[in-house]
Amino acid sequence: MGGESEKWALMVTGRTPTNIAVIKYWGKRDETLILPINDSISVTLDPDHLCTTTTVSVSPSFDQDRMWLNGKEISLSVGEFQSCLREIRSRATDFEDKKKGIKITKDDWQKLHLHIASYNNFPTAAGLASSAAGLACLVFSLAKLMNVKEDYGQLSAIARQGSGSACRSLYGGFVKWIMGKEGDGSDSIAVQLADENHWDELVIIIAVVSARQKETSSTSGMRDTVETSLLIQHRAPKRIIQMEDAIKNRDFPSFARLACADSNQFHAVCLDTYPPIFYMNDTSHRIISCVEKWNRAEGTPQVAYTFDAGPNAVLVARNRKTAALLLQRLLFHFPPQSDTNLDSYVIGDKTILQDVGVQDMKDVEALTPPPEIKDYIPTQKSKGDVSYFICTRPGRGPVVLSDESQALLDPVTGLPK
Ligand code: ADE
Repeated sequence: MGGESEKWALMVTGRTPTNIAVIKYWGKRDETLILPINDSISVTLDPDHLCTTTTVSVSPSFDQDRMWLNGKEISLSVGEFQSCLREIRSRATDFEDKKKGIKITKDDWQKLHLHIASYNNFPTAAGLASSAAGLACLVFSLAKLMNVKEDYGQLSAIARQGSGSACRSLYGGFVKWIMGKEGDGSDSIAVQLADENHWDELVIIIAVVSARQKETSSTSGMRDTVETSLLIQHRAPKRIIQMEDAIKNRDFPSFARLACADSNQFHAVCLDTYPPIFYMNDTSHRIISCVEKWNRAEGTPQVAYTFDAGPNAVLVARNRKTAALLLQRLLFHFPPQSDTNLDSYVIGDKTILQDVGVQDMKDVEALTPPPEIKDYIPTQKSKGDVSYFICTRPGRGPVVLSDESQALLDPVTGLPK
């Protein structure tokens, strides 16, 4: 393997975005391989605001595979990690660094152990698809380390086996996960529909809604749906083609109608499941109502909403101007608690907040009801129902961070920095 003292370590650090489905994935036809019962489409979110960074390292001095998530050691023995590690290791190819005197053959990779450190730049338990970004980043970084020659489509099929929606985080922009037909899942892969520059006017605002209780896990929820819901059979496959067209033509009204209708249908399917699943809460419903009223008053959609398996709202505004008008409405209806700093209540792209012209809590308190609200009753304001807002946009796919200062593992000890 080279390196006379066996003290060498090789390291790769990758950064991978999260994604939000605008045509939802819900229901598996194969639980082990994670094969879905429908195609889905997502928007990749800007990794500057939401991403996972993962450093993977290999060294003959490591005596077992180990992983740290957000600084805390976690077990790698769970199925989703094992599937990804096995699939990547089986595709490893010979590697040589003549300068460092390191040579690793295809067979060496099967015996060498790994250290992995991963960090999410957003709260892991906030229901913001951290496992999608996390598993995509693990697969991407390992593939680079082990000199895997497969293309991103094939890597997406490996990430899929870790967490279904992770396959869509292998690309930036607008991504389709094709359900595929093969029993082995080889054609259940992600493809890029358009990159992040194709429709760069869009602005995304995420309302992180305070959840009082833990929701049903997606895995068990999906299983219950497939077994008990009749409504799931009526999900419209035509929406995939219509959404592809809307994205291709940057047709915002169609994009918004399709995204909202699919989110609502997904939650209707959850309600049609036995036992019924409730992911949205009262705050989620009030956000929908705020957007619907405004869209109706304007005569054409200004904002799309979509909700995953949790109460958080992901809102897509057609441009910066509508994003500022949206944030103004959101701050009016869902102001922070009086002791909250506005700077920590609206995070991500702060320029949207500047466009609203709101600088402090006094400005938030001075906001007047939007014109579409005819019968406003002051008691309707709900302080503290939203934890915070994240302003972001469609973003790029995975990248390798070549600057060693960004690595999460110490090159000498192989432990988290
Ligand atoms: N689950 C949530 N975040 C993750 C991460 N960064 N890596 C792997 N699994 C995760």
